[in-house]
Amino acid sequence: MRIGVVRETTPGERRVALVPETVGRLTKSGNDVIVERGAGEASSFPDRMYTEAGATIGDAFSCDLVLKVARPSDDELGRIREGAVLIAFLQPLTNHALVRELARRRVTALSMDAIPRITRAQPMDALSSQATVAGYKAVLLAAAALPKFFPMLTTAAGTIAPAKAFIIGAGVAGLQAIATARRLGAVVEAFDTRPVVKEQVQSLGAKFLEVDLGETGEGAGGYAKELSEEAHRKEVELLAKAVKENDIIITTAAIPGRPAPKLITADMVRSMKPGSVIVDLAAETGGNTELTQAGKVIDVDGVRIDGTTNIPSTMPYHASQMYSRNIQSLLGLMITKEGKLNLDMNDDVIKGTVITKDGEVVHEQTKKVLAVEGAPPPRTPTAVT
Ligand code: NAI
Repeated sequence: MRIGVVRETTPGERRVALVPETVGRLTKSGNDVIVERGAGEASSFPDRMYTEAGATIGDAFSCDLVLKVARPSDDELGRIREGAVLIAFLQPLTNHALVRELARRRVTALSMDAIPRITRAQPMDALSSQATVAGYKAVLLAAAALPKFFPMLTTAAGTIAPAKAFIIGAGVAGLQAIATARRLGAVVEAFDTRPVVKEQVQSLGAKFLEVDLGETGEGAGGYAKELSEEAHRKEVELLAKAVKENDIIITTAAIPGRPAPKLITADMVRSMKPGSVIVDLAAETGGNTELTQAGKVIDVDGVRIDGTTNIPSTMPYHASQMYSRNIQSLLGLMITKEGKLNLDMNDDVIKGTVITKDGEVVHEQTKKVLAVEGAPPPRTPTAVT
């Protein structure tokens, strides 16, 4: 099989889909890997490392299988051959035009953000691997901006109190943020609407904020569901006290397929001590604070709100290495020992991940979303006289 690794062109995207370590494994098992010149440069993997691993530098778009991180631009789409397979983060539920175009061009597209969150698929779970990077880096961004120490220090110049960190949303990114803030010595408190995470939070040495919302945020498949208006109001009210008392807040609250819940109001931001830092990992989907600006760092009366997007790309070496291993595991399900492509649509992981195939959109959830979009607008009721 000819596998192509392209150089990312999305502004700010520094990751690469395959690192030399994975390339070596694939070439040893008989595949040809073609890497676009400079594809790994921004993530500290120069071309030399790829050629040493058995790859050839060349036109990656000419391959049967094209590997990317970010979704392709129009220009890149035009370079993918008809009948080829593309693997990238496509976000098919929101990128409708792209999905239709991939089907029209008869590209078989697999989306790394669609990998089912089931135990067997954990080694391929790129949402989790990249969230791990984001959670870790968010704390470092906060620590670097905070005008205080994280740990408690006993020095000749007196005792320094430890910083207080509050993590909202204890999914993959949130748990990693808790672990990182604890390692740096902060006193950490966390909250999530799914009570099942309480034990995980406590096992990392953080306090779980007990808040009775009158309902649980646990939805289907272990994911969070949107809270009722009443429970949301209660949550915002109850978070206010914790927000005010903390030096660092990392927000990670997300509902799959929905805008991020707004949990920190402008008044709550203004109640924080000057010098405090909020890093909003939900910035891309609207932000968990009312004031977050995606892609920007702002100052509100001395409180910093960091809305940096695509944080995994700011730690491209390990983010790429983890993504590359996720792809390698997925390829293990798709390529036979003889190096032939075999997409078994009866396999839950493949079925859940393939978005377009043979000129059609085949992914159930995407099909539903596209059908709603394509439906005629509801008829305006006519007045009955
Ligand atoms: P996510 O990024 O969709 O959401 C982050 C967190 O925000 C979640 O823990 C969610 O409960 C929380 N949240 C949502 N609304 C909130 C609100 N109003 N207030 C406070 N917190 C709120 O979630 P992520 O990190 O992608 O994964 C969530 C869960 O999915 C994991 O904890 C795990 O249970 C499950 N999972 C299972 C995997 C597997 O078995 N392969 C792999 C990864 C995740």
